[in-house]
Amino acid sequence: MNKVVKKMAAKIYTITSGKGGTGKSIFAVNLAVALAGLAKKTLLIDADLGMANIGLMLGLENKKITLHEALADEANVSDTLCDGPNGLKILPCGISLQGFKKADPSKLKDVIAELAPNFEFIIIDTPTGMNHITATAIELCNEVLLVLTPEITSIADGSKMKTVAALLGKEVTGMVLNRTMPVHDEPYREKLAKSLDLKILEVLPDDVSVHNSIVGKSPVVTKYPYSEISIAVNRFAALICGIKMPDEEMKGQKKQKTEKSRLAGAKLPFSPSKK
Ligand SMILES: Nc1ncnc2c1ncn2[C@@H]1O[C@H](COP(=O)(O)OP(=O)(O)OP(=O)(O)O)[C@@H](O)[C@H]1O
Ligand SMILES: [Mg+2]
Repeated sequence: MNKVVKKMAAKIYTITSGKGGTGKSIFAVNLAVALAGLAKKTLLIDADLGMANIGLMLGLENKKITLHEALADEANVSDTLCDGPNGLKILPCGISLQGFKKADPSKLKDVIAELAPNFEFIIIDTPTGMNHITATAIELCNEVLLVLTPEITSIADGSKMKTVAALLGKEVTGMVLNRTMPVHDEPYREKLAKSLDLKILEVLPDDVSVHNSIVGKSPVVTKYPYSEISIAVNRFAALICGIKMPDEEMKGQKKQKTEKSRLAGAKLPFSPSKK
């Protein structure tokens, strides 16, 4: 396996979490579109073999030749790719149970080995929990990112995934803290980072534009480019490309404030440190 990985040109990011519904797919889609928007040759792979969502999020659900077929040796890998926004290439996954049954997760390495030389970045969205395909995606990637929400359940499962990654020989690069509210301030985040012994690489607010973008079957970063979440995702994409964000966009981010009223009743899983 190591031989195969060494030949790969693309930098491969595996997006995982442990707990379900933390925003892995939303983040994977928008990060990939943002990277493509920076003129990086980017491939987004939906590796959630049982509960694939990216096709549904981007209106690709009718594609017949998908990752399922590639993992079942029923299709050429090149025939599975679709076009996405900003020149992004997408390898969607089918949504049928028959497709899930026939797909061999261990073949993901071969699929990626074939595609990697053509891309600068590959973003892999994984299923919830511990499973064969997530383990494969962790093993073959360069960077493991945890997308966690501030809930104690997500944090506990994220901690477990960090251990799983370590058992697979990978150190998690850091976490993206999603669905935050203003109560999740710096002291809170510092304490969280310390408790998980993991860097918080980006903070994404709870934002209604995410829901609206799913309804509209288009990514937030293209549909609502000036939303706070889009600016955060673009900033992260720029960071991993080594590009400094222009000042205007940073100013734009300050202008976008989430509704403080939504904070009412929000509770932290632990007490924030006193200033
Ligand atoms: N920052 C956000 N603001 C508001 N809603 C969000 C945000 N991030 C995710 N969501 C919502 O949370 C839900 C789960 O998101 P998503 O499908 O990306 O999670 P997931 O981790 O991929 O889930 P699964 O484990 O089922 O694959 C979706 O309904 C999405 O709209
Ligand atoms: Mg998902």
